[in-house]
Amino acid sequence: MKRNYDFRSDTVTHPTPEMRKAMAAAEVGDDVYGEDPTVKSLEEKAAKKLNKEAGLFVTSGTMGNLVAVMAACERGDEVIMGTMGHNFLHEAGGVSVLGGIVIHTIPNQDDGKLKLADIRGAMRNPRDYHEPISKMVIVENTQNACGGKTIDREYMQQVGELSRELGLHYHVDGARIFNAAVDLQIEASELVESVDSITFCLSKGLCAPVGSVLCGEKDFIRKCRRIRKLLGGGMRQAGVIAAAGVVALDQMIDRLVEDHRRAKILADGLANIPGIQLTKGSPNTNMVFLKITPESRLDNRTLISELKQLGVLIMSTNEGEIRLVTHNDVDDQAVQSCIQAFEQVMQQ
Ligand SMILES: Cc1ncc(COP(=O)(O)O)c(C=O)c1O
Repeated sequence: MKRNYDFRSDTVTHPTPEMRKAMAAAEVGDDVYGEDPTVKSLEEKAAKKLNKEAGLFVTSGTMGNLVAVMAACERGDEVIMGTMGHNFLHEAGGVSVLGGIVIHTIPNQDDGKLKLADIRGAMRNPRDYHEPISKMVIVENTQNACGGKTIDREYMQQVGELSRELGLHYHVDGARIFNAAVDLQIEASELVESVDSITFCLSKGLCAPVGSVLCGEKDFIRKCRRIRKLLGGGMRQAGVIAAAGVVALDQMIDRLVEDHRRAKILADGLANIPGIQLTKGSPNTNMVFLKITPESRLDNRTLISELKQLGVLIMSTNEGEIRLVTHNDVDDQAVQSCIQAFEQVMQQ
């Protein structure tokens, strides 16, 4: 069978042989009864890594964010987030549909950040009963739709200080927080020091097949556990999948630097091809965004389909750009093959 090189996302990664071994051998119990030792060990490990009091294993990043918002906000409360936030764009409006919570968007800047003045400006007047009540702010790091940008530690702290001043719960969608930490060469715990809660994904660059962990203070996570159950996310012998998450945390963080190195090689190679223009300051972390210049005969759909014929999978974004993501299942050879396939298709 012809091998495909899949650059669509880091969510396509397969579990490593070590993960499969750990999954087969996992000690399990009924996690809804709090009896799965592997889930507990994953939750403790995750919380320790981020220097938070407790962790909660959830099915996905979407569920982690949703649970956090529903725990921090009541129906009719408002959560402030970026127009480019995954939570706003790609989580099916769950916080409104299921939580009755109002989304208040403010623009992400090109660097992925929300202006502090905009956060402040989004605050409602709590004494005016016409208005929803501002309860929460969400920052995404790395910021996917802004190009996979890393948000620096100083800014993360500044949002923490502002949130405390304004009485907001500060949540981070840290689906790729370890990419950010590796990029900044600091511990992820330093990056989220001033954060009230954070969701990170095991199933993206860290290669676990399923799951995310939501971390925060003990009482908050206790509340989240109940909401996870309400949403149907109470899993029974979940240790089978949590075991892969433990391996992900132990073995897969430091190697993210390889994905970033390959994204740079990929971006450099693609930038040299006539008709291609890198966008969003690419590369950032493990992502490369680009567009086809108007002079080219190709549109995105033709490019995607012709590359697919050559065994290279890519995808286009809502904004009509192309995104490529490097990960554990695309090695140096795959990167070179991808560049060559682009050269071939663009030259025709
Ligand atoms: C920034 C960000 N947050 C959250 C998610 C949601 O994660 P999941 O697909 O596990 O629901 C994603 C998924 O790609 C993401 O990129």
